[in-house]
Amino acid sequence: MKAYIYINEAIILENEAVISPLNPGFLFGEGLFETIRADTGIIFMLPEHIERMRAGLKILNLQIPPDFDQIAAVSTELLTKNQLLHKTASIKLICCARNLDYEISSPKASTSLIIRVAELNLDEIGARQRGMRAQILPWRKNRSNPLLAIKSLNYLENRYGLKEAVRAGFDEGIFLNQDGELCEGTFSNLFLIRQRTLLTPPLNAGILAGTTRDFILRKARQTGIECQEMPLLVDDLKNCDGAFLTSSLMHLAPLTEVDQINFDLEQSTRLRKELLNFFN
Ligand SMILES: Cc1ncc(COP(=O)(O)O)c(C=O)c1O
Repeated sequence: MKAYIYINEAIILENEAVISPLNPGFLFGEGLFETIRADTGIIFMLPEHIERMRAGLKILNLQIPPDFDQIAAVSTELLTKNQLLHKTASIKLICCARNLDYEISSPKASTSLIIRVAELNLDEIGARQRGMRAQILPWRKNRSNPLLAIKSLNYLENRYGLKEAVRAGFDEGIFLNQDGELCEGTFSNLFLIRQRTLLTPPLNAGILAGTTRDFILRKARQTGIECQEMPLLVDDLKNCDGAFLTSSLMHLAPLTEVDQINFDLEQSTRLRKELLNFFN
């Protein structure tokens, strides 16, 4: 089946799409991306993803692409053309600096938008939702790094972290910051469960403001589940009833183990079910 992608303000065959090797997104990771879930054509939290991208463009001093307000329409068209309207799909938005020769000191670099859709591997997502094992990664994030707050194309630290975790037999790696506080996974945010309270690292720990993290905090608070955004240490993992990771594609996945600390999933099943219901 032919796959279609949106690039240079047009929908074309994916295998005909090209970007220049001089593109700053390719050369320096100078750009942003968003990964979004669509179930039967319903795109989950699209405005929140677009707003996070808009905030990231501002931080990187990149222009809003001229077709930025077309994202919803183009995404739906792409889902249709790729026959994904009745399936579960991921939508990837990419914004990267367009001018190949722009100076670092120029006022604002013009930006281009790429949108790609693909069928989501529900077997892989299902396996994660049954339980994940994570490893604490051996190097620390610098919480003052402004780039931790944006989803930039410069994603190699996360990808390398995930590769290292997978190589050691785990499903995800968890970063600590320079103060030894728990931050987040390489592609996910972290929550701990203590009785009926949700604990999660604060944004100033040096994490991405995950859209799913935000959604769970908002919905949980609305339904009277106590949530605390607070500094957490590795020892806190030993004193909780469970932990889980969140991301747009998997929603919520319980942790069965972090390094040598094991969690009995039964202890937190009820609360996790309540949280999962928010997504239905
Ligand atoms: C480093 C990092 N933290 C958290 C998340 C979760 O963010 P969201 O819930 O918006 O998908 C991601 C998603 O890819 C991520 O890369």
